Amino acid sequence: MSTPTIVDNPFFARVWKTLSSYEPDALRRLRAENLSGLTGRVLEVGAGTGTNFALYPDTVAEVVAIEPERHLAEVAQQAAAAASVPVTVTGETAEQFASSEPFDAVVCSLVLCSIEEPVSVLRQLFSVLRPGGELRYLEHVASSGYKDRLQRVADATVWPRLLGNCHTHRDTEHAIVEAGFVIDGARREWVLPSWVPLPVSEWAIGRAVRP
Ligand SMILES: C[S@@+](CC[C@H](N)C(=O)[O-])C[C@H]1O[C@@H](n2cnc3c(N)ncnc32)[C@H](O)[C@@H]1O
Repeated sequence: MSTPTIVDNPFFARVWKTLSSYEPDALRRLRAENLSGLTGRVLEVGAGTGTNFALYPDTVAEVVAIEPERHLAEVAQQAAAAASVPVTVTGETAEQFASSEPFDAVVCSLVLCSIEEPVSVLRQLFSVLRPGGELRYLEHVASSGYKDRLQRVADATVWPRLLGNCHTHRDTEHAIVEAGFVIDGARREWVLPSWVPLPVSEWAIGRAVRP
């Protein structure tokens, strides 16, 4: 696995700060659902501006949130200070992250699209979970039909360059299984009507377990 030590996307950071401060209620509900029932020690990967932090249930003892883009990490630090559960923000990339103390859960939301080698990173996340620990994910995924073609064109042209290496045509659930996880409940949601010509309308939300 290549090991990026820097994520430096100042343009995307500006875009994401704005987008994440105007999230629709429907997305907030999906975020809350993705975190519901979590307990113990949680690792959040690529936390962005820390939008999830306020939504962790009180049953979570501690969140370690990694966010390597420094402009986003600054905002995440503020969200961490306001959260009702203890959150520590660190600046490592997912590829760099290591822990001697296992986690009860790993949370990925809208991040596996941006990671250069998702299967390798998912294997690493698998290794920092305790046996029986879980991965919660909320990710936009590859679609079929005309969206398939739209996503392939987007990924080959401007989309990743403008949006922090985001790739729209990823079979993320396949990558999760390839990394060794067992998916234990998942569904698809259309966050925009399928006719809207944006390549990120179909999302997967689910729970996968380290056996
Ligand atoms: C679209 S934003 C999503 C932020 C947040 N997870 C959320 O749900 O709002 C993608 C995030 O992934 C982070 N990211 C990109 N590459 C990463 C890597 N290699 N390791 C960790 N985080 C990464 C970016 O800095 C950014 O914060």
